[in-house]
Amino acid sequence: MRHLLDITDLSVEEIEDLARVAEDIAEHPEKYAESCKGKKLITLFFEPSTRTRMSFEAAMWELGGSVISCTDMNTSSVVKGETLADTMRVAANYADVVAMRHPYEGAAYVASLQSPVPVINAGDGGHCHPTQTLADLLTVHRELGRFDDLTVGLCGDLKYGRTVHSLINAMLRYKGVKFVLISPEELKLPDYELDALKRAGAPFAEVRDLEEAIPSLDVLYMTRVQRERFDDPAAYERVKDCYVLTEEKLSAAKEKMIVMHPLPRVNEISADVDGDPRAAYFRQTMNGKLMRMALILKLLKEKNAPSAAEKRAFVSGGKCANKKCITRLEKLPPLFTAENGAEKCVYCETHRKA
Ligand code: NCD
Repeated sequence: MRHLLDITDLSVEEIEDLARVAEDIAEHPEKYAESCKGKKLITLFFEPSTRTRMSFEAAMWELGGSVISCTDMNTSSVVKGETLADTMRVAANYADVVAMRHPYEGAAYVASLQSPVPVINAGDGGHCHPTQTLADLLTVHRELGRFDDLTVGLCGDLKYGRTVHSLINAMLRYKGVKFVLISPEELKLPDYELDALKRAGAPFAEVRDLEEAIPSLDVLYMTRVQRERFDDPAAYERVKDCYVLTEEKLSAAKEKMIVMHPLPRVNEISADVDGDPRAAYFRQTMNGKLMRMALILKLLKEKNAPSAAEKRAFVSGGKCANKKCITRLEKLPPLFTAENGAEKCVYCETHRKA
């Protein structure tokens, strides 16, 4: 069964194909208006969402399919204690494809193990969010015309920002891409992402100052500090307004730089930036719908192809240190894989501490 759990489940060529289809959909929507006739999408959202769920649903409607929308899991059998695995087995009987968001890391992977239909990870805790990355990549391509030789600044909550993790995993596969990681000490990138950068040999710098970084960037990807992931509210208060992009700060940026944001924003981009031609974040949301349309078409067509997840090799057991790992919520065997000397949890990628 073919799923999309992590952006690396798609090759660079497949992403380019999706972008081509998305562009064709934008130009000739009528060609696709009945492509998913008789097919159903379930959106199973265990966490709040505006854009992601709406754009998945709009995508399926525009393909001529229909949608079953579960937005408040407090009204489902989950509150009676049903496991994710059981919810998934049932949902799959009613749908041809499932898009799922969950606060625990690795949840979509676990759901996929039980699912006879394709599962799309629409965000699993602070781990990853591959379909936002598809929207982000189409935005970069439409705005700048290329993926190669770009300096990409990622600013804000790099620790819990799942969109950042997936975007890095996607962009590090292109030639000449440099990363500037702009965050306070408390919100630095997790070990597994730093590892991915090092393994790919991608040049990166971890810095604190946004204004110093701005002049070198082609893309500035701003993020919200993810309040819901903090255990300690005081820790959130200390960092919540660490960066605020203003029109004045943008005056030092390249004329062709683009500002992106997965949205929702809180204070990190001031409203005076919205009118700047470099502000691409609202255009980005339209790209999300187009790429989700292309993805749904692909997964329904290739649903019997092997999933990358099934190829993972497990080497050892033990408890995962991440309190938001899905193994802490569901009864699952803790499993780790070994990669370049580091052992990481199969579900959430957290490194096993010695
Ligand atoms: C992001 C998410 O849910 O991770 N939003 C989105 O999907 N567009 C970013 C965020 O919530 O800050």
